[in-house]
Amino acid sequence: MRPIDARQSPIQVPFFRPSISEAEIEEVVSCLRSGWLTTGPRTKRFESEFARQVGGMYAVAVNSCTAALHLAVEALGLGPCQAVLVPTMTFAATAEVVRYQNAVPLLVDCDPVTLNMDIEDAARKIEQLRAGNTPLDPSLRVVGIIPVHVGGLMMDMDRVQAFAAERGLWVVEDAAHSFPAAYRARGQRSVVRGQRSVVRGQWSEVRGQWSEVSKNVQTANPKSQVPNHQISNPQSPIPNPSACWRRCGENTAAVSCFSFYANKTMTTGEGGMAVTDDEQLAARMRQMSLHGLSRDAWKRFAGNHAWDYKIVAPGYKYNMTDIAAAIGLHQLARAEENRLERQSIARFFREELAEIDQIELPPDPPDRVHSWHLFPIRLRLDRLSIKRNAFIERLRELGVGCSVHWRPLHLHPYYEETFGWRVEHLPVASAEWPRLVSLPLFPGMREEEYRHVADTIRQLCQRNST
Ligand SMILES: Cc1ncc(COP(=O)(O)O)c(C=O)c1O
Repeated sequence: MRPIDARQSPIQVPFFRPSISEAEIEEVVSCLRSGWLTTGPRTKRFESEFARQVGGMYAVAVNSCTAALHLAVEALGLGPCQAVLVPTMTFAATAEVVRYQNAVPLLVDCDPVTLNMDIEDAARKIEQLRAGNTPLDPSLRVVGIIPVHVGGLMMDMDRVQAFAAERGLWVVEDAAHSFPAAYRARGQRSVVRGQRSVVRGQWSEVRGQWSEVSKNVQTANPKSQVPNHQISNPQSPIPNPSACWRRCGENTAAVSCFSFYANKTMTTGEGGMAVTDDEQLAARMRQMSLHGLSRDAWKRFAGNHAWDYKIVAPGYKYNMTDIAAAIGLHQLARAEENRLERQSIARFFREELAEIDQIELPPDPPDRVHSWHLFPIRLRLDRLSIKRNAFIERLRELGVGCSVHWRPLHLHPYYEETFGWRVEHLPVASAEWPRLVSLPLFPGMREEEYRHVADTIRQLCQRNST
C-alpha cells in the first residue's frame, strides 16, 4: 500500500454517482416522443411493477418520498392535538410531514448499534409524555409511529407492529433507504382487507439474491392467512425452509414510503412511492396526490370524452411524471443487481476496515437483507487526535467524498426552539452523531475507487491515532 498524499491523489471518489444505463435514456426519449409527459401509461406500469417487486397490493407514484409520507399521514387522519413517534435520527422529511398536519413529532432516541429507532425508548417516551416529563404538551394523544430503516438496515417490523397494536397506533414506514430490503419475520401474517397477489420468493444460496418462484397467487379468502414466503437463509449453507422473510413494503406498515431521489438505491431524478395493502388508503392517497380530483389526467384525456372531473378535497400536486417513471422502470429492473453490487462493496469495506481500532463498522446481521444505501462508520474519538469534521475534510482533500447521516432532529434550531428538545432528552443520538461518517458506496464504483477509500481511511486513522 502506497502512502496517500493530497497533492498526488490521482483518484477522486465522489460520495455518490448515479448509475444510469442506455435503457433509461432510450425510455426517456421514447416518452418525450410519445407526446405524453405527465402521469400516464409509464407511471401506471411503474406502479404495478413496483408493487409486485416489493410484494404490496397498491402503489401510488408521487414526486418524492416526502409527498408519499405526507399523503400517508393525511389519509390516516392525522391532525391537531395528536402526536406521532418519530426517530430523532432521521432526515427532515420524516418529522416535517407530521407538522404539515399540525400534529407534533414525539422524538425517540436511537439504538446504539443499528441507529434505528429504539422501541424501548418509544415506550418510555409515551410514558414520559403522559407524566409531563417531555418538553411537549402532556395532553397530546399519540396516534402513530414512523420507523425509519437507517441506511437500509430494516427494523424488526414484527416488533414494531406488536408495539403499535398494543397501543392502538398506526404504522407508516419511512422506507426512503430500504429498497430492496427484507428481514426475517417470525410468524404468519394475515391480510386485513382485499384480494392479494402473492409473490413467492427465495434466496439463491450462491448469490444471496432474491428471485421470484411464483407470481399472482390469489388468496381464495382475503381474510385468510397468506402463505409464508418459503425462503432459505441467504447466509447459511443449510437451507432453512421454515424461515419466513418479509420484504420492505410487503404489508410491513399501513403505508410504506419509498424515495427515488437522485442518490437513493434507485432513482427517477426526484420521486417516491406509497405502497399499501389498504384499498381505501390507496384511493385517498391517489386522489390527494392530484388536487383532490375525482379522476386523474390520464383518465380525463385518454378516456372517452371523459373531460369532466370534480374537486372532492383540497389536495396537493404530488403526482409523478411519465418522464420520471420512464427512468424508474429500468432502474427497477436492475434494483437487485445494483443491491448485490453495493452488498459486495460493503462486505469489502467490512473486511478491509475490520482491524482498524479507531473506527466502528455498521452491522450486517444474518436476519436482514440490507439495501446498503449507506455505509456509516463511527469514529472512536478517544483514539483519534482529530474530530469528525476535520476527518471528513482530510478525506475530501485525499479524494474521498463523505457525508453525515444525520444531525439528529432535536439538535436543529426548529425542534430545539419550537418544542424545547435538548441533548439530555435523546442521549444516544446526541452522543453518536459527532462520530458519524458515511463512506461512498454506489453501484458502478470501480475497484480502484473502493480500494482508495479503504486505504485512505486506514492511513488517516494511523496518522491521527493517539
Ligand atoms: C430517511 C429519509 N426519509 C425521507 C427522505 C425524503 O426523500 P425525498 O427526497 O424523496 O422526499 C429522505 C431523503 O434523503 C430520507 O433520507
